[in-house]
Order: sequence, then structure tokens, then C-alpha cells
Amino acid sequence: MSARLLVIASCLCVLSACGGPHADAWNAIPEARRDAAEASYVERCATCHGNTGRGNGPSAKGLNPQPTAFTTEWRDGTDPEWIDHVIHQGGRAMKISPSMPANKDLSPEQCSDLRLFLMTLP
Ligand code: HEC
Repeated sequence: MSARLLVIASCLCVLSACGGPHADAWNAIPEARRDAAEASYVERCATCHGNTGRGNGPSAKGLNPQPTAFTTEWRDGTDPEWIDHVIHQGGRAMKISPSMPANKDLSPEQCSDLRLFLMTLP
């Protein structure tokens, strides 16, 4: 395919909402891992970050700063490695809000699967 066709094809893909720029990496991991990441998000993260990742879960009330909303330009400008570290080490160790808990029991792969999940929240 020529470079120009490739550009047109990828623009069409974004415009038709076929998952956005982050969907490919998410879809590339096995379904069992995707299911596990989603369940883990619901269990560990949604109470603050919200079921749909808008930072407005029930436990977000009164937190300052508020939990990050994942569905904004935040996710386009943030280093994936940093995100994985925040999930694993928690806010205090990474010198952001200590309200963001550590998840040291999760493997690096589980942390990056969670990252891929929150990148694809609609
Ligand atoms: C008790 C509430 C709480 C829970 C539970 C929680 N977070 Fe957070 N999270 C926060 C807060 C508050 C911030 C904002 C930190 C800041 O801006 O200083 C944050 C920030 C983040 C960030 C953004 C870091 C950045 O770039 O600024 C990511 C990514 C994140 N959380 C992922 C997760 C994931 C994944 C889970 C579940 C495994 C989770 N959080 C669970 C409160 C929470």
C-alpha cells in the first residue's frame, strides 16, 4: 500500500471509531488476559477512577487531587512506562497523590494490561 493510502486508511479508522489509536495493542493480547484486566479494574480501580474511567467513582469524593480521568488527552500524552510504574508502585512512591494505591501484587504484565484497558475506555 502506498504511504498516502495508508494515511487515508488510518484516518478512516479513527473517524469511524474502530477503537482509536490504543485499541490495536489491547486487541493483540489474549482474551483471557483482557477479561482479567477488566475484572481487576472493576475490583481495584473503579471505586476511584469510575466504571467508565472518568475519575468520578464513589470514592473520588473529597479526594484532592481528584483521580485522573483516563478518557481525556491525558492518555495520548503520557508515557506508558510511567503509567505502569504508577499502577505498580502507587502514588506516594511516584511522588504524586498518595491516595493512588500501590498494586505490588500485580505482575508487570498485569499492570501493563490494566494500562491497555484504561487506554481503550470509551
Ligand atoms: C483510592 C482511590 C484510587 C484507587 C482505588 C485507584 N486510584 Fe489511580 N489515582 C488516584 C488519584 C487520586 C490519582 C491522581 C494522582 C495525582 O494526580 O497526583 C490517581 C492517578 C492514577 C493514574 C495517573 C497517573 C498520572 O499520570 O498522573 C493512573 C494511571 C492510575 N491512577 C491508575 C489506577 C489503576 C489502574 C487503579 C487500579 C489498579 C487505580 N488507579 C486505583 C486514586 C485512586
